[in-house]
Amino acid sequence: MKKKLTRFDLQKMKTEGRKAVWVTAYDYITAQLAEEAGMDMLLVGDSLGMAVYGSSGTVPVTMDQCIYHTEAVRRAAPNTFIIGDMPFGAYQVGVDDACRNAVRFHKEAGVDCIKLEGGTRVANVIRAISDGGMLVMGHVGLTPQSSGAMGGFRAQGRTADTAKAIIEDAKAVYESGAFALLVEGVPPEVTRVICDQLPIPVYGIGAGDCDGQVMICSDILGLFQAFTPKFVKRYGNVADEYRKVFAAYIDDVRKGAFPGDDHVYRMVEGEAAKLEAEWSK
Ligand code: KIV
Repeated sequence: MKKKLTRFDLQKMKTEGRKAVWVTAYDYITAQLAEEAGMDMLLVGDSLGMAVYGSSGTVPVTMDQCIYHTEAVRRAAPNTFIIGDMPFGAYQVGVDDACRNAVRFHKEAGVDCIKLEGGTRVANVIRAISDGGMLVMGHVGLTPQSSGAMGGFRAQGRTADTAKAIIEDAKAVYESGAFALLVEGVPPEVTRVICDQLPIPVYGIGAGDCDGQVMICSDILGLFQAFTPKFVKRYGNVADEYRKVFAAYIDDVRKGAFPGDDHVYRMVEGEAAKLEAEWSK
């Protein structure tokens, strides 16, 4: 049976140059198949808002929604390291509130760590949650919860000055006690500096090569239709499979080809005749 990784395993993977591979999951079946495939970690991301609920961003996602989906993912993947994503509003109001929400993730959904967005500005929150004995993964660069302030979902750190600010954010995350960091939407040159400077594992999405990669499951499956970011590689076209299956089912039912003899329950021997006799009187 697969053994769940610990922070020490993840740290060792960095030291030995072995990449950690993870993906988002929001439901039981996806999580089960991802664990079966050998995924190192699963993130129940607040991308839930877009991937599952059809929102245009992550801001509307609530703590209750995250807990609900994370519980299902935990049930499906008991042997995988699971990251609970703190949604917008779960850690902005105050440090006490942030700690309470991190505790909820652990007690109600059984996560192995929580992730939150921001660098220097959330250093006190990372410190307080870490001091509470919980693992925190930071998230810097393109931080979707502040896409409004960033002027949209745009790559960050493309100039030396803005890159420097992201590197400072990454250092603040590490110095506040985070055990790992996710870097999103920055040029690979910036990620390389962060990955080389920080002793903790640095993972990327749209950030080039580092200690491991995460992708949104519906993007790599070819299921999410609204748009495909430049950094996504599609490994399948599951949306087309859905279309084919739904069309074939509609067609079969309408022409009377389903349900057929193979898809019905038969009456106990002799009972059909009794029924017929009773109702044909
Ligand atoms: O919510 C999410 O899916 C994320 C991704 C950027 C990995 O944080």
